[in-house]
Amino acid sequence: MESIEPIIKVENLSKTFAGRSGVNKEALKNVSFEVYEGDTLGIVGESGSGKSTIARLIAGLIPPTSGHIYIDGKESKGIPEGVQMVFQNPLESFNPRKTIGYSVTEGLRNKSASLEDAKEIIMMIFDQCGLPRELFDKYPHQLSGGQCQRAAIARALSMDPKILICDEATSALDVTVQKTIIEVLDKLRAERGLTILFICHNLSLVKLFCNKQIVVVDGKIE
Ligand SMILES: Nc1ncnc2c1ncn2[C@@H]1O[C@H](COP(=O)(O)OP(=O)(O)OP(=O)(O)O)[C@@H](O)[C@H]1O
Ligand SMILES: [Mg+2]
Repeated sequence: MESIEPIIKVENLSKTFAGRSGVNKEALKNVSFEVYEGDTLGIVGESGSGKSTIARLIAGLIPPTSGHIYIDGKESKGIPEGVQMVFQNPLESFNPRKTIGYSVTEGLRNKSASLEDAKEIIMMIFDQCGLPRELFDKYPHQLSGGQCQRAAIARALSMDPKILICDEATSALDVTVQKTIIEVLDKLRAERGLTILFICHNLSLVKLFCNKQIVVVDGKIE
């Protein structure tokens, strides 16, 4: 049988942040791991252990100090296509003065889709995310926390990612809403063949949702 290539391969990744008073912070130290297509990888660890740093490096939002990230077998430099992130506070991630529809279609419109075409694509994604279509014309403050997070997931999916990184994406929501978001993510994983990195400090949620997990301790993987 052919051996399968990992969709993400992280090799000896390190990140040191320059401190103001000349004291540097080694946030990540020689981290290596692999993720396979369709995996839901839980990334757990204490506050300040380096979880978000891993996420931001893979999403290309910050450059590594050393080491390599391969996505789909190719070394990733800068912002990789096919990787999207969802963050903790859904309401803050939307422009309060723009409708949800405006914000979630922005990526598609920037990619030269017309508003009409973008809306059609987004409506199908809304259905997949269990979001009522009429929320398209609402403003962020008119949505519940769970709806707002689904809208953030819909916005990420509009870019047709292969990899979705959720950085504490359910942490600001109450327990029952967390479960519904997990169910949506799991359905999307199955339907779209998504690979999910799920950063979360709630271990029982990670156990429920993820098929693999890594534990980050003081910038290293245990
Ligand atoms: N831009 C930055 N400049 C300086 N230090 C930083 C920067 N970003 C992160 N750090 C430091 O790097 C370490 C790891 O931070 P990171 O945000 O990755 O932790 P985390 O595991 O996501 O924590 P939390 O669970 O609280 O979100 C921390 O000590 C943090 O203070
Ligand atoms: Mg974090």
